[in-house]
Amino acid sequence: MTAISMNMHHLENISLRPYNTFGIDVKARFFSEAHSEEDVVILAKNHREDDRPLLILGGGSNILFTKDYPGMVLKISTKGIRVIKEDETSVWVKASAGEAWDDLVKFCVVRGWGGLENLSAIPGNAGTSPVQNIGAYGVEMKDTFCELEAFDLESNRKMTFSNEDCGFSYRDSIFKSQNKGRFIILNVTFCLSKNPILHLDYGNIREELNAMKVVQPGISDVRETVCRIRSLKLPDPAVTGNAGSFFKNPFLSSQQYEVLKHNFPDIVSYLQDGKIKLSAAWMIEQCGWKGKRIGNVGVHEAQPLVLVNNGNATGLEIINLSNDIRQLVSQKFGIMLEPEVNFV
Ligand code: FAD
Ligand code: EPU
Repeated sequence: MTAISMNMHHLENISLRPYNTFGIDVKARFFSEAHSEEDVVILAKNHREDDRPLLILGGGSNILFTKDYPGMVLKISTKGIRVIKEDETSVWVKASAGEAWDDLVKFCVVRGWGGLENLSAIPGNAGTSPVQNIGAYGVEMKDTFCELEAFDLESNRKMTFSNEDCGFSYRDSIFKSQNKGRFIILNVTFCLSKNPILHLDYGNIREELNAMKVVQPGISDVRETVCRIRSLKLPDPAVTGNAGSFFKNPFLSSQQYEVLKHNFPDIVSYLQDGKIKLSAAWMIEQCGWKGKRIGNVGVHEAQPLVLVNNGNATGLEIINLSNDIRQLVSQKFGIMLEPEVNFV
């Protein structure tokens, strides 16, 4: 075993309630928090000599704990944001995995570097952003992603991944699908633009800018608008436990879509990457779930894609609610919704 630094905490049998935005109260057999990449690597190497499972935890904003965790939970708390390269048009910014995602967005926006502003106010760590290729308001993380460094728990070495290597798609990457749990992302580099192109076409961004009487918007106006819209639609995890959208929006072939459109002329859909994406929120609302409360759990009143913990919910109660929703949506629309959240 290799020694780890003094500032790394080791705890046993601790509650994970403060470490997941759903506020689910389960215990971790072991819990450590890494503040340097060296500690992450040493701990990961040491862990290979251990039979217990390892869970890498960021901000816990896309996780649903369903039972006590029998192994080691390693919370990534490494900090640092720095410019590593710059030319006339672009800036390359590298963030340690444990930086809060929104601190990185703010860092770029205040300097006038464009690309991340539509992704303002998404909870979680910068290092987790590639896992599901976070997206919002017409932009995805992959649009500015340059590369990341990760520790491979199989080969025991550090590796660099380009945009192509990561296999990004809607709410997905190799880190969420075929290689889930294999790599620990250590840092991520983004390429931002000194001449930002604004993305204002999603939802009511333009309307909100007009309402704010912004005539020539810049990226800080976009950030402010996105933050405002989000705060009206999404519950604050500090007040109401949730993990954002519980389900993904489903994609359909044009044939499937034509049949549905015939039966449900008002169905809400978008064209994305040449495919048809349906609004799961709309379908859930049509099934009568919006704002419903069932004991400890419920469906958010302003955004039915978001399931909430009204107090002392267990992960299983949330799963039961999600299964009921999936069943009714499937009965009505013939579509089985897929969870976006990671079950542990
Ligand atoms: P965690 O929940 O800690 O982990 C998620 C998964 O990634 C787990 O499987 C974990 O093991 C793995 N992981 C964590 N860190 C690492 C690492 N360093 N290396 C490898 N694997 C790792 N998402 C969107 O895409 N768009 C949104 O608009 C959005 N809005 C949200 C709004 C709210 C109110 C909430 C609560 C969530 C929202 N989310 C959204 C979901 C969530 O914020 C993102 O998925 C975020 O990237 C999760 O980051 P995290 O650090 O909290 O991940
Ligand atoms: N809608 C309803 N009823 C509602 C709310 C929405 O019918 O109560 C319909 C409306 O037609 C609305 C449409 O759904 O125009 C889309 O709603 P919204 O803009 O809120 O987006 P979403 O598709 O429901 C997605 C992401 C969010 C992201 C927003 C904004 C997924 C699974 N979710 O939600 O991401 O913030 O777009 O871009 O793709 C997350 O992943 O956790 C998340 C919050």
